[in-house]
Amino acid sequence: MAVLEIITLGDDVLRQETDPVPKLTKKITKLINDMIETMYAADGVGLAAPQVSVSLRLIVVDVGEGPLVLMNPKLVKAFGQELDVEGCLSIPGKQGYVGRSTHIVVEGLSERGKPVRIEAEGLLARALQHEMDHLNGVLFIDRVEDVEDIIEKGV
Ligand code: NI
Repeated sequence: MAVLEIITLGDDVLRQETDPVPKLTKKITKLINDMIETMYAADGVGLAAPQVSVSLRLIVVDVGEGPLVLMNPKLVKAFGQELDVEGCLSIPGKQGYVGRSTHIVVEGLSERGKPVRIEAEGLLARALQHEMDHLNGVLFIDRVEDVEDIIEKGV
């Protein structure tokens, strides 16, 4: 496995619409493993493929319950609304309040290529919505009311 470079705001790949993962190959499995290692190395709770310069619909998330991998994820249900603080590994030093659905259902393919249906709430729901936004070229700063500089806050 390898730690990949995480691209930051200003890189065009972050703003592109991504393509579906056509099929599970050894190359994709290696990418998944590298993304998980990269997420942990950066101390993040999620990472989307465009953040490592790969324009595919692939995300990894770990909110403390072990790594969750989703290929070609689709939001099939969303309800509730909650405002909370969010940041992004591609926008270091920034965070802001973002409204997200509190409960969601997501369908996609697992790291083994099997169909999965995830029901999520709280931080997991937020992380999944944040990472799925990346697949459409959307960043949390597009959804935030006030971007706060965490360095200015002295955090
Ligand atoms: Ni992000």
